Amino acid sequence: MLPHSLTFALILFLSTFFVNVSATNNKLPKGFSIDLIHRDSPLSPFFNSSMTHSDRAQNAALRSLSRANRFGQSSTAETSELVETDIFPNDGSYLMKISVGTPPVERWALADTGSDLIWFQCSPCPQCYPQNAPLFDPKSSSTYMSLPCGSDPCNSLPQFSVQGQLYPKCGTSNECTYFYLYGDKSYTMGELGVESVSFGQAASFPKTVFGCGHNNNGLYNMNNAGLVGLGQGNLSLVSQMGNVGRKFSYCLPPYSPKTTTKLRFGEEVAISGNGVVSTPLITKPGSLSSFYILNLEGITVGQQTVQTGESNGNIIIDSGTTLTMLPSSLYEQVEALMKQAIGADQFIVEEGPYKLCYSNANSIQNFPNFEVHFTGANLSLKPQNFFRPISNDVTCFAMLPTGGMPIYGNVAQIDFGVEYDLDKKKVSFAPVDCTKQ
Ligand SMILES: *[C@@H]1O[C@H](CO)[C@@H](O)[C@H](O)[C@H]1NC(C)=O
Ligand SMILES: *[C@@H]1O[C@H](CO)[C@@H](O)[C@H](O)[C@H]1NC(C)=O
Ligand SMILES: *[C@@H]1O[C@H](CO)[C@@H](O)[C@H](O)[C@H]1NC(C)=O
Repeated sequence: MLPHSLTFALILFLSTFFVNVSATNNKLPKGFSIDLIHRDSPLSPFFNSSMTHSDRAQNAALRSLSRANRFGQSSTAETSELVETDIFPNDGSYLMKISVGTPPVERWALADTGSDLIWFQCSPCPQCYPQNAPLFDPKSSSTYMSLPCGSDPCNSLPQFSVQGQLYPKCGTSNECTYFYLYGDKSYTMGELGVESVSFGQAASFPKTVFGCGHNNNGLYNMNNAGLVGLGQGNLSLVSQMGNVGRKFSYCLPPYSPKTTTKLRFGEEVAISGNGVVSTPLITKPGSLSSFYILNLEGITVGQQTVQTGESNGNIIIDSGTTLTMLPSSLYEQVEALMKQAIGADQFIVEEGPYKLCYSNANSIQNFPNFEVHFTGANLSLKPQNFFRPISNDVTCFAMLPTGGMPIYGNVAQIDFGVEYDLDKKKVSFAPVDCTKQ
């Protein structure tokens, strides 16, 4: 199981301008940016100072594994009840601060590129997981409006069958009653409504489709009041922001207590320079349609390249998963080349899941050249992108094998500007010093 002491946070920075957005006059903000703080940052109000660096490294690895596995197991076991789709939750690397309602209430919510629905725990809540902040009360908001069953947003929800009952369904007052199940069996159940959503003074989005969860369960953390889906589906924040959501970028700095991550939207997005390379964003139908899928052609270690021989999209890019999860056969070959290139004695870490580790005593003198070949975009990674210190003495290869869904995780993305362009259907990368962004 996942470690559930999820302590994380993200802080939203305010732009200097206020843009009011209205669905009726189509005045959209042209761009704004949000600063994120990693869950393990001491700046996070939920930082657990008694955890060691190795506890955090261990937890991050377990979350990455779990995230990939959940996806791979989606059609089995208890989820056989599942009718249409599976939803893939974030491992909880980042939280974002989001305001909901009128007057606005500010809450921390998981930022998740692997799912779509935006939801909060709402009162009354017969079954909520505990949270520190008060529950959101739709009755105290003048802008909350429930949506009827049969409405377009209600029909955009994935369908689930729970104990013979098909969701979404019509509630007692004809409201849209939803059930939203994640791959790890966490779920939220409640009423679909529209509500005003805002990010400080930077941007506000009235009439955002929003789930008011009255029965929620799973591996959430008491510090987060809900979840913000940033996937490609109709109900995600990205999709509901209109044009400004069609382009977004981030630049993840190496972990340090003081650095923040910028999530930029619209015109604030700016990755540029000679080093920019782009790879197609591959759209898949059905349950994969929310994900940001790229095609990984191969990986070079030193002078040797392992090819996947694939071209149709085989890996999800995700800012919320820590480690990179490779298909097992590819992983084995890459690991073998890495061992050979490093040549030092391996350090055996008793408690997995890291597989290839070295103690700093035989510290690695020469890290090999390491390139990731996406279709059209070759990325040359630095050692910090593929090795990760898990304690003062031990450093480990930051990739793992999975029989589930391969994921290009956030360690591999450190010090790259990463831009998602949903209209041009491409993801671009540029090597950048993200601490200077
Ligand atoms: C903080 O971390 C320590 C060590 O892992 C753990 O025992 C403790 O329960 C954690 N505290 C909270 C509030 O999560
Ligand atoms: C998403 O929205 C588009 C355009 O409004 C619509 O054609 C499509 O059917 C919607 N998708 C789902 C899954 O409802
Ligand atoms: C990427 O690298 C591969 C292998 O070194 C090479 O064959 C290919 O031409 C390169 N592609 C681009 C777009 O630079």
